[in-house]
Amino acid sequence: MSKALRILKNLLLGILLLLVLAIVIIYIWSEIKLNRTYDLDIPPFDMAKYQPNIEEGKRLSYIIGCSGCHDLEMQGQVLWDVPNVLTMVAPNLMDIAKSSSDSDLEKMIRHGIRKDGTSVIMGMPSEFFRYITDQDLANIIAYIRNKPYVDPPDQTTSYKLLGRLGIIIGEIKNSRESLAEIEPRVENNSLAKISDDSLTDQLKMGKYITQIACTECHGFNLQGNEKGKTPDLMIAYGYSPEDWQKLMTTGKGLGDRELRLMSKMVKYRFSHFTDEEREAVYLFLRYWAESRMK
Ligand code: HEC
Ligand code: HEC
Repeated sequence: MSKALRILKNLLLGILLLLVLAIVIIYIWSEIKLNRTYDLDIPPFDMAKYQPNIEEGKRLSYIIGCSGCHDLEMQGQVLWDVPNVLTMVAPNLMDIAKSSSDSDLEKMIRHGIRKDGTSVIMGMPSEFFRYITDQDLANIIAYIRNKPYVDPPDQTTSYKLLGRLGIIIGEIKNSRESLAEIEPRVENNSLAKISDDSLTDQLKMGKYITQIACTECHGFNLQGNEKGKTPDLMIAYGYSPEDWQKLMTTGKGLGDRELRLMSKMVKYRFSHFTDEEREAVYLFLRYWAESRMK
């Protein structure tokens, strides 16, 4: 073998070795991040304090969107399957409930922390579910525990090389990391600034529904989210009560526009609002918009 060939061979071997090393490092580093555990010292969730309403739990699971991601029967489904990046599966909640206490479930749902202390991935938006009241959480847990069993999908969440790289550089966050990022801005935003004490019961209801049903996409401050292509909900100020009724029952925007994602949300989720809830959200959004214009 000529000298030049030998050098080329060694060079290629070297590059191959570096590649293998890089892949090993990416796997180990991402595993370390995925296995990071979080301590959360909160009192146990005592279901005995509540008289859960299973039907209401089912309705809430539609409104909040659990049954959008975990599928209509909470049996779980593949949410995203991106080649070379990840397969994201919302798991079967009836299975999870069987092996979890009520306190375990409350930690997963409202705080994004699993039984083993690891965090769920940000695809499960528990950052926004911490607003769910104890009574509503009890209703949802009772619904999951008492509904007829439906078989899960045969896939589980898995990360491929690019997904693992995404975890390392922070493009793919877990729920706790995502919360830590928005936390500093949560306290003083235009929504949080409106204290419940200043609100009538109707406006309180509107604020609550908005927090559990709209923040996930329109942002914790309702001011829209560039990544998710959602508008600032100031836009609701331009709606008359009749237009609002139409948007929230048929999914048609002002001027009879068919919307992209929002129309689907109305069909599967917000059509389950009561008349009172629909009106309360409308009045609250007006109140909030006016408080911002002051
Ligand atoms: C936007 C989609 C989405 C919504 C809405 C959603 N989930 Fe999830 N959920 C997921 C995904 C994805 C996972 C899996 C996360 C992972 O693999 O790290 C998950 C995980 C969970 C887990 C933890 C299971 C485990 O051990 O990993 C529970 C419990 C859960 N969801 C309950 C709920 C409930 C109850 C609601 C409604 C209040 C809800 N989810 C709404 C997507 C969603
Ligand atoms: C799953 C994500 C998602 C959720 C949850 C969601 N929205 Fe939206 N919404 C969107 C998107 C995306 C748009 C932009 C239009 C489109 O692409 O559908 C939108 C648009 C809107 C618009 C503007 C319609 C127009 O005139 O163009 C209003 C008003 C609105 N949403 C209100 C709400 C309210 C109120 C809630 C809670 C009850 C809510 N949305 C929850 C995704 C969501």
